[in-house]
Amino acid sequence: MERTETVISGTQRVFFALWPDEKVRASLALAARRMHRVLHGRRTRDENLHLTLAFIGEIDIESLGRLQALPAAVLTERFRLILDRWDCWPRNGIGWAGPSVIPAQLQRLSENLQAWLRTAGFDLGRDRFTPHVTLLRDAQYAAMPESPGPIEWKVEELVLVRSELMPGGARHSVIASWPLA
Ligand code: 2AM
Repeated sequence: MERTETVISGTQRVFFALWPDEKVRASLALAARRMHRVLHGRRTRDENLHLTLAFIGEIDIESLGRLQALPAAVLTERFRLILDRWDCWPRNGIGWAGPSVIPAQLQRLSENLQAWLRTAGFDLGRDRFTPHVTLLRDAQYAAMPESPGPIEWKVEELVLVRSELMPGGARHSVIASWPLA
């Protein structure tokens, strides 16, 4: 993961996310490889694995400043997230890992964030929150291989990520983070 303090100019493609620590990232990367062997498609690069909370899209520098002023009231306590489901959505070929139980804090964090973003004038396309980590894109829907087992993630911060679309695929970097209580 790259954390950047550089001065940012022009428009930026950004999103809010949960960013895994190295141990969780390694488990997700392993799960992605195992799923890829059966479902094929394009595997998410290890360093890009994350759980999206709100996709903002392309914004200017002034809007970025407004996002960075996220109020503390949006944040919740830290929580434990168990990724114990993995599957592929046949409608869009996304292979994913996610929780069978959404922790109350995660639900609240998502709702607080969405509500604040709407009030702050950001138009969010997606309304229903389905927490998942995308492991594959353009996967061929098939019977899932045996699950790699639950991944335990201690979620301690919310991050704002910049996504640069490059010829070789997206490059993500964390540009702001907020510790959970
Ligand atoms: P996904 O993992 O469910 O595909 C960065 O591009 C992240 O933002 C991706 O992980 C993706 O979520 C999400 N994303 C990308 N484009 C989006 C869009 N137009 N609407 C909602 N979410 C999007």
